[in-house]
Amino acid sequence: MFKITFQSKTTHEVEVDQETTLLAAAAKGGAGLNHRCGGHARCGTCKVEVLEGAEHLSEMGTAEGRILKVMKAAPEQRLACQAWATGDVCCKV
Ligand code: FES
Repeated sequence: MFKITFQSKTTHEVEVDQETTLLAAAAKGGAGLNHRCGGHARCGTCKVEVLEGAEHLSEMGTAEGRILKVMKAAPEQRLACQAWATGDVCCKV
């Protein structure tokens, strides 16, 4: 069991018991992340800033890296639909 925390105007903490994407965890916890392309690494609307626990996220794939580069994203930013968590993570929405 581990915890994924989403910080925005309010904080949403989601307890999960298996590997999950940040987007799925956000949906489970009511964190209200946008996901216009349906989680296919095409829109970038699910971008989050990882504050803690980056070591518990999957490696960045080609599609994710490409869209984040186009968006000129900071190194700590990830696409929630592509980042799989296996441990505690805290991110800013
Ligand atoms: S939902 Fe579109 S890139 Fe993640």
